[in-house]
Amino acid sequence: MAKIGVLTGGGDCPGLNAVVRAVVRRADEYGYEVMGVREGWRGLLDPPNHDRLTRERVRGILHLGGTILGTSRDTPFQKGPDGKDRVEQLLRNIDRLHVEALVAIGGEGTLNVAYKLSELGVKIVGVPKTIDNDIPGTDLTFGFDTAVSIATEAIDRLHSTAEAHSRAMIVEVMGRHAGWIATYCGIAGGADLVLVPEYPIDMDALCASLARRHAKSHFSIVVVAEGARIQVDGSREAELVSRGVDDFGRPQLGGIGEVLAREIERRLRIQTRVSVLGYVQRGGTPTAFDRVLATRFGVAAADFVHLDHFGKMCALRGRNIEPVPLSVVAGKIKTVDEIYDVARVFFA
Ligand code: F6P
Repeated sequence: MAKIGVLTGGGDCPGLNAVVRAVVRRADEYGYEVMGVREGWRGLLDPPNHDRLTRERVRGILHLGGTILGTSRDTPFQKGPDGKDRVEQLLRNIDRLHVEALVAIGGEGTLNVAYKLSELGVKIVGVPKTIDNDIPGTDLTFGFDTAVSIATEAIDRLHSTAEAHSRAMIVEVMGRHAGWIATYCGIAGGADLVLVPEYPIDMDALCASLARRHAKSHFSIVVVAEGARIQVDGSREAELVSRGVDDFGRPQLGGIGEVLAREIERRLRIQTRVSVLGYVQRGGTPTAFDRVLATRFGVAAADFVHLDHFGKMCALRGRNIEPVPLSVVAGKIKTVDEIYDVARVFFA
């Protein structure tokens, strides 16, 4: 019986368990054995860490947030204590465990590793995961709809308190490289301004816009993506607001809302408050839309293994799930498109 390994890598995301369940159920129809690799790529490094995934093991997980497999940002290309990468280790373990194909469910980082390993001959199918929706080649990633729903509900609640106190309310949402969550929840929640990583923030323009809004109305809602940058002076690169770097050298984002609030209060004397939605956007149960998309991706991933569509990612294209080469996806980011122009129509 052929054996498939399945892993979840990077930040968690609502719908991961739905994909895992669907891979197992479809693989079972083909007669494949499925091995659940623990904590992303780490589970294939030394010592390997995995469990058998049966139909019984994946029962009752469809609606659960998080991932039963655990996740990490560790990659075999990260140097070990001896200063060397651990790709050999990983290839050896894939061989020893008799894993014939891998399904890697992850975002930018995980799919990048999947591409590099597929170039080294590993049979891999990728599944695009991230609440940030910034993976190219697919119309949508699962998890995004859930994050937007949570952020929209938060904006609805913040509206009434902003209005009651005549305040400017800043809502800081996730979005490291792209402002998809900010743009969608900004449109859905009726925001007066949406600030995204794609367009550096000009404080003068922002304050002029808010002053206009507060001349006509006594409150405002500003949505900002955590990865948006502030343009301090035209000649320098716009600055990212971060709290240092994480274990993998990535800036730990968060805090741009507070920086904006201080500046708005100083310049406009409008009372300003900030709500950072943070990990609430990523936790808990997926929406029905995300459960369906994740399930379709999982079924397609097992189909792609069966059809030898390796080095490919499952992608939503219009109404269909299609294979897209990982080479199209690796190292690239999908930034916001014309949808931002729709949000702009409602700016103050
Ligand atoms: O999943 C993507 C993301 O939500 C980014 O928007 C955010 O910057 C990042 O994850 C933070 O994740 P962690 O703190 O788990 O590394």
